[in-house]
Amino acid sequence: MQKFIVKGGSRLRGELKLQGSKNSALPIMAASVLPEGQCLIENCPELTDVYSASRILNCLGCKCSFSKNKVMTDSSALSSAEIPEKLMGEMRSSIVFMGAVLGRMKECTVSIPGGCELGPRPIDMHISAMRKMGIDIRETGGRIICRTRSDRPKGAKINLNFPSVGATENIILCAVLADGETIINNAAREPEISDLCGFLRKCGADIKGDGESRIIINGREKLHGCEYSVMPDRIAGATYLSMTAAAGGEIILRNACVAELEPFLSVIEQTGCTLNTGENKIYIRSAGRIRAVRDRIRTMPHPGFPTDAQAVLMAALCTADGTSVFEENIFDCRYRHTDALVKMGADIQVMGKIAVIKGVKHLYGANVEATDLRGGAAMIAAALAAEGTSEISRIYHVDRGYEKIEEAVRLLGGDIKRVQ
Ligand code: EPU
Repeated sequence: MQKFIVKGGSRLRGELKLQGSKNSALPIMAASVLPEGQCLIENCPELTDVYSASRILNCLGCKCSFSKNKVMTDSSALSSAEIPEKLMGEMRSSIVFMGAVLGRMKECTVSIPGGCELGPRPIDMHISAMRKMGIDIRETGGRIICRTRSDRPKGAKINLNFPSVGATENIILCAVLADGETIINNAAREPEISDLCGFLRKCGADIKGDGESRIIINGREKLHGCEYSVMPDRIAGATYLSMTAAAGGEIILRNACVAELEPFLSVIEQTGCTLNTGENKIYIRSAGRIRAVRDRIRTMPHPGFPTDAQAVLMAALCTADGTSVFEENIFDCRYRHTDALVKMGADIQVMGKIAVIKGVKHLYGANVEATDLRGGAAMIAAALAAEGTSEISRIYHVDRGYEKIEEAVRLLGGDIKRVQ
């Protein structure tokens, strides 16, 4: 099993071009089953989750090839509406194929998706929305069998109890080829939703209001192929900025989505790091010793502080002057990385959704296991700031979302290597 060996103590310095967004690329790849033709998806990160999405596409009969951050898909002739359980289990995003396959094939068979273990991750909102859109759904032997009652899914008014990212994406994907108008109230406003809508609009879809809480979709009879470039990954951006805050140094992120990162930037700025933003770029300088964040950091749906950046910022705050407090409001179990940080010398108390981080003078290298994608990235950030050498195992979690993270960190002067 591969591991990262990280020697702490080097300041980070240099420029990095940010990868394309994982959480945009995956629903966009699912969306590529909707048009009857070819799509070229550019700036697609090379990640294990993206490879899983391309295996799903192949198994549906969509021709999908991948080369140098470009994905070519051809869904002219789909041959199956069934996604095998094994592929469904490889990642959470497999569930958004449900809406897309239903939109195009009027039926689909899926199962409960996999993904990071962040506590219970039900799909009740996805299922009840699909039912409202005229889909019969039954569960048998772990399989979820879905069929449209008439010849197409039907437009519907859907009020989400919570602005779920995945449920919003699934509804949009099913609605673009549905019969009539679909209105989503309390829709997720994450930038990745707008990126998905940008792709679908280029394919001819009629969608209004993305980025707002009310999205209106008018179903079309057909969509056509297009060329599209995936937005930059705001969470990878938050990760490299947090690493620099933790280890000290100065870096410039290029191809960065400044406006989309604002909820994160406004918090990291409070640590005393110098931040400057320009067109598609972000500069950060950290003296190595940062300040705790005075206000409680509450993870919230966009435009709140992103849950996906909680772990990496926490790693930086472990050696800050003073005490910082996180409140995790999106997932029930998203502090699994804290044991590893404590093993490295951090002072962290977790009580339910609250984590209190008292800054310590030093972290020390340790042997730790990545618990999930962002937790693993937090361990790399902590290891870069620590005295001594850390060994991080189970890094397949990290490879699900970061494109060649060790090359990116080495480019910035960090001492990290991947070993077998
Ligand atoms: N939820 C339900 N029922 C549902 C759907 C969601 O109770 O039917 C709950 C979830 O259990 C969770 C909360 O609602 O407690 C938020 O879930 P949401 O559906 O918004 O998240 P998701 O679509 O499963 C995406 C990202 C996550 C990111 C969240 C929140 C992808 C592939 N995943 O997940 O990204 O944390 O939105 O922003 O887009 C990551 O990249 O590390 C990651 C976990």
